[in-house]
Amino acid sequence: MDKLYKFCLYIFIVSDISISQAQPTLLGKYASQPKIDVAGPRTLNGVQCLPEFFPKQDFDPIRPKSIDSYQIPQFDESVYTGPSKKIDDDVKELLNSMSIEEKIGQVSVSHVYNFIGCDGNINTTAVEYAFDVLKLGFIFGSPSDAFWRYAFNSPQRFANFSNTIQKIAVSKGPKIPVMYGVDSIRGANFVKGATFFPAPVNAAATFNPVHAYNTGRVGAKDSRAAGTNWVFGPGCDLNVNKMWSRNFESYGEDPFLSGEMAYHYVKGLQGNYKKDRSRVASCFKHFIAYSASYNGKDQEPRQVPMNMLLEYHVPSFKRAIEAGSATGMESYGSLNGQDVVTSKTLIEDLLRKHLNYTGPISTDSNENLSQFTKHKTAFSPSDASLQLYNNTSIDIQLTYDASAFISSAIDLFKSGTVPISRLDESVGRVLQLKKDIGLFENPYSDPSLIDSVGSKQDIELSRNAARESLILLKNSDKVLPLSKDSKILYVGANFNSTRYLIGGWNVHANGPNDFEGDAVYDGYGDTILSGVQKITGKPANYIPGYTIGGNAGQGYKNIIREARKADKIVFFFGQSGNIQSLGNIETLKMAEDQYNIVKRVSEETSTPIIIVLAQNQPFSLGELSSIADGIINANLPGSYGGLPIAEALFGEFSPSGRQPYTYPRLDYQSTTTYFTPVWNEYSPEFAFGQGMGYNEITYSNITTSSDVISPGNPINVSVTAVNNGKLPQMEPVLMYTTQQVRRGYSPEKYRLRAFDKQLIEPGASRTFTFKLTAEELMFWNVDLNRVLEEGLIDITINAFNKNYVKKTVNLKK
Ligand SMILES: *[C@@H]1O[C@H](CO)[C@@H](O)[C@H](O)[C@H]1NC(C)=O
Ligand SMILES: *[C@@H]1O[C@H](CO)[C@@H](O)[C@H](O)[C@H]1NC(C)=O
Ligand SMILES: *[C@@H]1O[C@H](CO)[C@@H](O)[C@H](O)[C@H]1NC(C)=O
Ligand SMILES: *[C@@H]1O[C@H](CO)[C@@H](O)[C@H](O)[C@H]1NC(C)=O
Ligand SMILES: *[C@@H]1O[C@H](CO)[C@@H](O)[C@H](O)[C@H]1NC(C)=O
Ligand SMILES: *[C@@H]1O[C@H](CO)[C@@H](O)[C@H](O)[C@H]1NC(C)=O
Ligand SMILES: *[C@@H]1O[C@H](CO)[C@@H](O)[C@H](O)[C@H]1NC(C)=O
Ligand SMILES: *[C@@H]1O[C@H](CO)[C@@H](O)[C@H](O)[C@H]1NC(C)=O
Ligand SMILES: *[C@@H]1O[C@H](CO)[C@@H](O)[C@H](O)[C@H]1NC(C)=O
Repeated sequence: MDKLYKFCLYIFIVSDISISQAQPTLLGKYASQPKIDVAGPRTLNGVQCLPEFFPKQDFDPIRPKSIDSYQIPQFDESVYTGPSKKIDDDVKELLNSMSIEEKIGQVSVSHVYNFIGCDGNINTTAVEYAFDVLKLGFIFGSPSDAFWRYAFNSPQRFANFSNTIQKIAVSKGPKIPVMYGVDSIRGANFVKGATFFPAPVNAAATFNPVHAYNTGRVGAKDSRAAGTNWVFGPGCDLNVNKMWSRNFESYGEDPFLSGEMAYHYVKGLQGNYKKDRSRVASCFKHFIAYSASYNGKDQEPRQVPMNMLLEYHVPSFKRAIEAGSATGMESYGSLNGQDVVTSKTLIEDLLRKHLNYTGPISTDSNENLSQFTKHKTAFSPSDASLQLYNNTSIDIQLTYDASAFISSAIDLFKSGTVPISRLDESVGRVLQLKKDIGLFENPYSDPSLIDSVGSKQDIELSRNAARESLILLKNSDKVLPLSKDSKILYVGANFNSTRYLIGGWNVHANGPNDFEGDAVYDGYGDTILSGVQKITGKPANYIPGYTIGGNAGQGYKNIIREARKADKIVFFFGQSGNIQSLGNIETLKMAEDQYNIVKRVSEETSTPIIIVLAQNQPFSLGELSSIADGIINANLPGSYGGLPIAEALFGEFSPSGRQPYTYPRLDYQSTTTYFTPVWNEYSPEFAFGQGMGYNEITYSNITTSSDVISPGNPINVSVTAVNNGKLPQMEPVLMYTTQQVRRGYSPEKYRLRAFDKQLIEPGASRTFTFKLTAEELMFWNVDLNRVLEEGLIDITINAFNKNYVKKTVNLKK
């Protein structure tokens, strides 16, 4: 008898004896169990299905190795790598061998939820149907957004899923590899362990495009590890309506800033994507003016005059195209009354001819169906297809289930209503894309990338992006930074949360549900609480106080009492992650309980108040902006944003973010942007570009290489910044222009023309030099000509901040 066996026997005997000795007389006298009929587990064709209500799926126990560091291929960014007009001969040959059905399938996309059985596992019968019968070219979406057994997939499980689908795709129908698209906006946000970066709006707030680049680069690698190769981004939409639920997915309100970030994000995602298999195809979106919905709700109509469209909304798309974006996506809904998805003006004249975009264009999801069911712009589904094909060169049909499209489109082409040549154009572009991204060489994921998912190297890049994105907006009497020795009270639901620092498109489209909470991340991420404890080395005095929605919650009643005992109180305002129409709001007014408690603390105690905002929509601060001594806008800094926020609070570094959008005071300012006419009101809560650090930075007078600027004769603008403080300072320098008088067209208050960000050590100075051209100072008039009006131009560095400097030059023809 071995030792272990003896031990087990011993336990068994001992416990047996103890139970029989201790049997109380009351036991065993219960009534018998009642019989209550309930439905058994759901079955489908003999398969045992998951229950209907299944909010808390199993968590995937698999973890990537997350090695500390790894090497990535370098890429010369100055080289253009992007779609070209030319279709390769071998691609043409494949195209010519395909049937009409195979061609239509090739331009169709279905969501992966079609491939998941009622048991929550992959349904290979459904996958076989999709490739054998429908002959699908694309799939999209995360299995975690379907009725899937696992809440959140490790890269291993995700790759197993995508490779299983791919194996079937390359063995059925036309045997062409399938391309797999995902809404990954800040890294591979549907892959467990993948490094989530701050939201795009935070990248914009850094005014340092390297963070947009890193987000793309790491996101591409982690996406490829999971077997996905098409990422829907950059979001080139301007945040011109602050009520809009999708502002966090874009790069702020300014055309130039948005364009620079979009450019570098595309480079990060794609790099040398025709050779480097750790890259993905990007997809600029949503062409065009999606964000300008008149009432701020998602997918509502927009009205933007064409000259304004060209002046403000087009430039960021132009930059994404210049960066080589392999694909693009049109926008939901209508612009100026016309459906975008069938607009010859917008898709052909503007995107193809004016912007010279040659790659594939996709619809937004189910958009064509909306023509018939929602917009009432088509008599029938087939009429919708006819208009789309006849009026535009849109290539890819993004739908939740492509089967209806496929059957009606087959009729359209077989009857000759739309010539086959139109379909061939689209299929050619799609197959060339698949060749470029390497699917014909190796359609499967690269297993060697899995170990690098969640690498320390990536997490540090994410934290650095978060650090540089934090915007210090108010700091009366140097209330910040906090001292490690003082008694601080922390209040707010998102202080002890990872998921509320991320926003939508994270685990699921709308973020984790309440049953999953932070547990779903399995340790990949941190919280502000853990950051504070790491820095101070002691437990934090924390009261949740109110829910993430701002309603009174746990400990609300104790806040005043605890605030009296504290040296300082920090309130955290947050918002739960939502996307699209689920994130619609009707007012910027914040929840009353949250608002009132801050007011009461200011009235009933003398404790200094600090507010940290970590939300998508900029809720009105009202009196709180004067009540608070310190305000930090953190936007949505991502799963690794907790430590950076704590570091900023305790002065481990000096903040360097700037507002990438105008923060309105009240609802009536929700469409206010800083590039409003000079005579118009601009008195928001916080201006575009506003922000400061803990150091006093002073600027020398601006010097210019010439006092006259004209077409073909650019000037150099220089300014020197001095760091008079005690901490190193990452200093963003923003150069704006204002034309003093512009005949016929009121000049804008300011327009951002350039920015740069550099480190200045304490006591040191640094000179920043920018190029300014007369061409940039031209504008689109109502006749749709880009014109130059002579006049004096004020060049302002750091407008809207105390340390701004200004110089005037003369603009000549
Ligand atoms: C799998 O898909 C097939 C075809 O769509 C369907 O008939 C079947 O019921 C599905 N199986 C499960 C387990 O859901
Ligand atoms: C997926 O995992 C299952 C279970 O380990 C395995 O049998 C199957 O071969 C894997 N498939 C792929 C494509 O990795
Ligand atoms: C598009 O191409 C034409 C012809 O090559 C060129 O004149 C034009 O400047 C290009 N447009 C853009 C936006 O690059
Ligand atoms: C769009 O296509 C429809 C159907 O072919 C046609 O009647 C209409 O004139 C087209 N509109 C434009 C703007 O080209
Ligand atoms: C396509 O639209 C054009 C106008 O843009 C129209 O002349 C033509 O008849 C349309 N074709 C069909 C098949 O509707
Ligand atoms: C639009 O959607 C309907 C319904 O799904 C489908 O019948 C039609 O073919 C689709 N057309 C296009 C162009 O996607
Ligand atoms: C923070 O949240 C975790 C659950 O995510 C909980 O276990 C812990 O007690 C909370 N900490 C405090 C100080 O409330
Ligand atoms: C900047 O210019 C002003 C007036 O033009 C002058 O008084 C001041 O000395 C200059 N400052 C520096 C640092 O050159
Ligand atoms: C502007 O600066 C660049 C780079 O320092 C230099 O090559 C160029 O000659 C300067 N232009 C003028 C007009 O001074």
